[in-house]
Formats: sequence, C-alpha cells, structure tokens
Amino acid sequence: MLNRYIGNKKSILEPIISQVKEKLPNGGRVCDAFSGSLAVSFELKKEGYEVSTNDINLFSHFYGKHLIEQCSLPEIELASFNIDNVDKHINQAQLILDRGISGAEDYSFLRNKKNSHRFQKLLTVYLYLNNLMDGKPKGNSYFFDTYTEEGKNSHFESQRGTIGRRKFFTPSNGRRLDLVMNQIRKWNKDGVLEDGYFKYTLVCSVIDALEKVSNTQGTYHDFPRDKYDSRAHIPLMLYPPNFDGIISKKKKHIIGRCEDSIEFVSKIPSQDLLYLDPPYNFRQYTSYYFLPNVLCEYIDMDDLKIYFDNVQFVRGQNMTNDFNSSFSKKNEFIKSLYNLVKNCDTKNVLMSYFDGRNHWNNTADGTDVEGKEVLLKFFNSELFIAGTCDLIPFDRLNYQSYGGHKAKFIKEFLFSGVKK
Ligand SMILES: C[S@@+](CC[C@H](N)C(=O)[O-])C[C@H]1O[C@@H](n2cnc3c(N)ncnc32)[C@H](O)[C@@H]1O
Repeated sequence: MLNRYIGNKKSILEPIISQVKEKLPNGGRVCDAFSGSLAVSFELKKEGYEVSTNDINLFSHFYGKHLIEQCSLPEIELASFNIDNVDKHINQAQLILDRGISGAEDYSFLRNKKNSHRFQKLLTVYLYLNNLMDGKPKGNSYFFDTYTEEGKNSHFESQRGTIGRRKFFTPSNGRRLDLVMNQIRKWNKDGVLEDGYFKYTLVCSVIDALEKVSNTQGTYHDFPRDKYDSRAHIPLMLYPPNFDGIISKKKKHIIGRCEDSIEFVSKIPSQDLLYLDPPYNFRQYTSYYFLPNVLCEYIDMDDLKIYFDNVQFVRGQNMTNDFNSSFSKKNEFIKSLYNLVKNCDTKNVLMSYFDGRNHWNNTADGTDVEGKEVLLKFFNSELFIAGTCDLIPFDRLNYQSYGGHKAKFIKEFLFSGVKK
C-alpha cells in the first residue's frame, strides 16, 4: 500500500472505523468513493464489511483488486513463467521460508500449509525478478530514457524556461524498473497472468517498491532538480506482500475503475454507508500520481513508443491518463458533492474533513470557519433527515515538519448524516 499518498487516512483509521461500527454494528455494505491508497477500504474489509471502492486513479483500481477483491493466495503454475534456473530460486524461497517468515507474528497466513506452499511459488517469482534486475540492461528502456537524467527522452523545459533532465530515479534504478516491467508485461501479453489476481499483486509490489526509492518528496508531480534524496540510492527491490487481511471469506466487493465517483455511485447496489474523503485542494491527483498509473497501464499498452514520445511537462506525463476533478475546484466542490450524495442509494453518509494548508476551505486567518460552515450547511440540506447531522472532532499527530517545527496535534473532523 502507498504510504506517502497525500491525504491517506492510515493514521486516523481508528476513529473512522469506530464511527462506521457505531452506525453498522452488524456489518453491511460500505462504499469508499475516493479510495486512493485503499487504506480505509482495506480496514473495512478486515472488519468484515462488504466494500465498494472507486477512485479516478488507475493504480487505486489495481490495489482494489489486489487488497479487496482478492480473498485467497494466488495459485500460480510456475512452469508457465519460464524462469531460468527455476530450481535455484525454488530452493532459495524454501530456505527463506524455513528460516523464518513463517514464525513471524504477522504473516500468520503462512501457518497454513496450503498457503505456505502457494507462497513459496510466489516468492520464487519475486526472487527471480530481483535477480533479473541485477542483470545487464536489455529490451525496452522507456523508464530509463524518460525519467532518469541519462535517458535520451528526459530533457524538459519548464514554463518558466528552466531546462534540465528528469530525475525521478537514479539511472541504475531506471534500468532496474525497465527490466522488471518488461518481464511483467511479457508475462501479461503471453497470457501467463490471465487468471486470478497475481497481475495486480505484482504491479502493486512494483509501485510499493518504487515509492521507497523515488527521488521525490512524496508525489510524482516534481523531483529535486539538482540532487538525489538519500532514499533514491537504494536499489529497487520487490517484496511479496503480507497476505494477512487479504485472505478472507469471499464477499461481493465491487472495484470501480477510474470512474468519476459521481457516476460510479449511481451504478452500484444500495449501500448502508457512503464514506467520502474527497480532495479539498487544487491538486489534481492524476497529475501528482501519474507514474503509478503508468506502471499499471504499461503491461497492457499497445504502442509504447507512441505513448512515451508524447509525454509532456517537466514531470513527463502522457496526458491521455489525466482527469480534471471538479472536487478540486472551489466553485464546483459543493455542487459535485450534492450530485454524488444524491446519486448514491445509501442510508448513512460519513465524510472526512481536514482544514490543511493550500485547501480551498482554509481561511486566511486560520480560524477554520469557512469550510466547516459550508459543509454543516450541506449536511443540513434537504438531502438529509433533519436533525441527523453530526460533527465529530478528533486529534491527529501531524508529522509533517515545516521549517524545523516538530510534530503537533491538529484537528480532523468527521461529518455524518442520515440520507432521506
Ligand atoms: C484525500 S484523497 C483520498 C485518500 C484515501 N482516503 C486514502 O486513505 O488513501 C482524495 C482522492 O480522491 C480522488 N478523486 C478526486 N476526484 C475524484 C472523482 N471525481 N472521482 C473519483 N475519485 C476522485 C483522488 O484521486 C484521490 O485519490
């Protein structure tokens, strides 16, 4: 799961889930209409809820398939992967399992013999891919060429006239990324990943791994122009995911794919609760996180050359995968929220709210009145049963340090209401 995703709710899952439990103590259907990193949806799944997820970012669809819809360990046929020196990797995988992950507190799924056997095969694939990345460059080199300073297509000129070369990764990690993505693309095109969820699991593992070695401050909108963050020098390595929480009783989860949630909610069956965590700022997430989306697209793309020849801006995004969300525009926010809630057949609505820097609702004097008042008015509108609006405040420790300031407690809120 992405840990550096802006606005992710990982650190405040407890108050969100406890509100959901208060409203739905006996389980039920919950829609996470701005699912992002899937932090909230995954917790809901672990708590036994039937989840519908959607986000405008393609990578969120991939995590939805991997974390939510997938409910057992993929059973793969190793022979079809055509792995060189497969026995060496199988033995290494067994050695790793014997040495210890099985005893670890998390990874408890490995105590089950069938799971352990399946996981050994997955681990074999991951070991092979890590080994492949240590080898000589071969095949397509689009990630190296487009996103590293030594690449032949990484030149940029900013709107202010600054020129330079993209530095999202070190050249060495750019080559490693090409090697691993070319192999996954080949397996995908050859039909090896056709059945089940392994394709999603593999790509999500690459996105997780890339986040750890990217030369960024969290988003892929830009990169430090003249230096590398220390994390960027760590070699890209894949780790198989922990399947605790993923393995569960199969439910009718629904995973949307890059739809505007205003449309998505009108197509799903009736919900017991609609959870909303929209953007409150100008940031268009598909621009800030385009690279994870490119990894998802890469394995299926028809013409790589056309795609990478047509990247734009300093960051190098092909704008075919861009989406302009009305929720990121101050003047359209409330109208969009109204349409979304109106379109959804749900009983309860629960909405996260945070008055952060750069947010449209942030008042110049920092008194945080404007946004809350606008939303209070919304939750008291004709869409809701009168008297059901509630505003729940709680504290969050903010680790973001600006100019040397230490972590401090800031206020988060949850709005809730019962729909008419
Ligand atoms: C604050 S983030 C949600 C974070 C998420 N709750 C998490 O824990 O990771 C807002 C999300 O809304 C998505 N988004 C923005 N406009 C959207 C729209 N019209 N339809 C669907 N998703 C949208 C963005 O891509 C982003 O992932």
